[in-house]
Amino acid sequence: MTVLVLGGAGYIGSHAVDQLIEQHYDVAVVDNLQTGHRDSLHKKARFYQGDIRDKTFMESVFKKESIEGVLHFAANSLVGESMQQPLQYFNNNVYGTQITLEVMQQFGIKTIVFSSSAATYGEPKEIPIKETAETNPESPYGETKLMMEKILKWCDQSYDMKFVALRYFNVAGAKLDGRIGEDHSPESHLVPIILQTALGQKEELLIFGDDYNTPDGTCVRDYVHVVDLVEAHILALNYLKTGNQSAVFNLGSSTGFSVKEMLDTARDITGKEIPAKVVSRRAGDPSTLIASSEKAKMILGWKPQYTDIKKIIASAWNWHKTSPLGYNDIKKN
Ligand code: UFG
Repeated sequence: MTVLVLGGAGYIGSHAVDQLIEQHYDVAVVDNLQTGHRDSLHKKARFYQGDIRDKTFMESVFKKESIEGVLHFAANSLVGESMQQPLQYFNNNVYGTQITLEVMQQFGIKTIVFSSSAATYGEPKEIPIKETAETNPESPYGETKLMMEKILKWCDQSYDMKFVALRYFNVAGAKLDGRIGEDHSPESHLVPIILQTALGQKEELLIFGDDYNTPDGTCVRDYVHVVDLVEAHILALNYLKTGNQSAVFNLGSSTGFSVKEMLDTARDITGKEIPAKVVSRRAGDPSTLIASSEKAKMILGWKPQYTDIKKIIASAWNWHKTSPLGYNDIKKN
């Protein structure tokens, strides 16, 4: 039986494919390569290039493969871009999920692990954020993730399709051997931008605001290592395979680091100066986002291994140092 990974050539999806194969799962991947990289894929994964919104294409994949469950990473995922292009986000994320579920229903597949986001909560009223907190997304991106969770809920109710929605906090880091890592174009996430600045690819880090109500005035986030995050997906798949109920879990480290703390840690690890300057706030950034991940630990038995922020940044640095141009470097080899 096969695990189908949608968006398996993206940053998180490629780590999932890699870990599933290392744990002896049979894996098929669907990716339209809009933002994903062919070279990030493990050689043992069967790859189908196409779009999850293309029903005929999706049916052809489900016909060829004996699918036991779906991991769904295929989505646009930038908060800022979603504010500019909301309809693109609703189309790709929500409509793409709708087609995926229609095809799953047609083929009698009842297990899906879904990439959700802390962006479903919006500005939190209480820290750490529990799964029971109010959901009030402040961007089209967060709204699409919440809408997709709701569609899953009704598919469970009507078709007995079981889902786990994993609400990610700030995912960072890379596979420890440096074969795969984070490569977005353009890049907007803090850790890769800090490290690109360390490599001299960017002149300086722009710190978006130092007047927040936090200890040093810069935003506080909860960083989780991509390898730990992916492990939770494999646990979720097994949780569903053993007949459990649909559920939502936060995935974070339960510890917050400010932008300045991240920068200082990266300076220590890289030994580089990493020039930085404070500029005005970026629209839509909540001051503090920290997860309570107790539920995932209790129910899924999740045991994150790389909770030390230094390890997260060091693994990302290993990837950026060895592949400074991301997958473009690998293609040249
Ligand atoms: N930041 C900077 N300078 C930069 C980039 C980021 O100061 O050049 C700051 C941001 O203002 C923020 C922090 O670094 O305070 C982290 O920013 P990221 O863009 O790396 O991540 P976000 O917290 O904005 O986004 C993350 C996920 C999203 C998810 C969101 C939920 O990447 O997918 O959390 O709010 F939707």
